[in-house]
Amino acid sequence: MYLADCSTTPSGWAEALSAWPALGFSWIEYGGITRFPQEGNPKPRMFRAHSERALVNRMGFNNPGAAAVRDRLMARRASGMWPKVPVAANIGRSRKTPNESAPSDYSSSMEMLWNHADMFVLNVSSPNTPGLRELQEVDHLASILTECKMMSDRKGGGKPLLLKLSPDNSDDEVIASAQMALRKGIDGFVATNTTLHRPVPRNTTSRSVFAESGGLSGRPLQARSNEVIRLLYEETQSTVPIVGVGGIDSVDTAWQAVSSGASLLQLYSALVFNGPSVVSGIVKGLRKRVKENGFLSIEEAVGLDIT
Ligand SMILES: Cc1cc2nc3c(=O)[nH]c(=O)nc-3n(C[C@H](O)[C@H](O)[C@H](O)COP(=O)(O)O)c2cc1C
Repeated sequence: MYLADCSTTPSGWAEALSAWPALGFSWIEYGGITRFPQEGNPKPRMFRAHSERALVNRMGFNNPGAAAVRDRLMARRASGMWPKVPVAANIGRSRKTPNESAPSDYSSSMEMLWNHADMFVLNVSSPNTPGLRELQEVDHLASILTECKMMSDRKGGGKPLLLKLSPDNSDDEVIASAQMALRKGIDGFVATNTTLHRPVPRNTTSRSVFAESGGLSGRPLQARSNEVIRLLYEETQSTVPIVGVGGIDSVDTAWQAVSSGASLLQLYSALVFNGPSVVSGIVKGLRKRVKENGFLSIEEAVGLDIT
């Protein structure tokens, strides 16, 4: 069982890479990285609704661009500071790149980061880059995946390519994206990104946070993320792994994601609200839950609610 943080680090530049495994994460993800450098949206761009255990962010992929990240990671590796756990790179489309040119935007970033990641997550679901979510439509997806696969083949392959989906698409849309991705040989899915939907706020602070534009993460996202995990698990018939992410902040929510079909987990918002010990707490709790269920390994719990 892996636990990971999808680490847009506070500076957003893949700088905190070595710190995450010490918290108990057994794989890590940096990003989102774009082909071209970009500053992201003006600050403030992240907001906390404490009583809801939710964040709203509109970071907008603030990052120095794939080439600069590559150089930084190359230096990190040379200095012996590379983490000993698997590392994923999360790739987004550059804001200035139109959707028609998205395939080469994604594949160029992947190519630049090829030697600095064990797997790649194609993020076609961030709500904070105008038009980006349209890339989940099958025609766009087909072109992006074809080009990224070709690039991967040129490099000799061997690095899984995952697709990160939105919780805001209808079930039919999720299934259509998944089917196309499977036809194009996708190696796994990440479910889900943040949502544009807002729950009914509990108080005035939450009301003002929820009025901010951007993607909502944390506890209110958990139910829909779980549904998307289930949909994908049913659709893929467990042929490829699903990374569960969205509102995981406890043993119960982690177990729900696993029993809905996730074989890998990530969390982000819980680090903000629960602090770093949330990770080891979940890992310990999951081990206990595995034993209580009479399983030998957590793998036996994957998709338990469905099979
Ligand atoms: C501040 C912030 C920045 C994020 N940046 C990215 C990103 O660059 N790429 C991406 O795919 N997801 C990004 N996400 C979404 C998370 O990876 C995750 O899918 C989402 O927050 C749901 O998980 P959570 O409820 O555990 O936070 C970001 C989330 C937050 C809160």
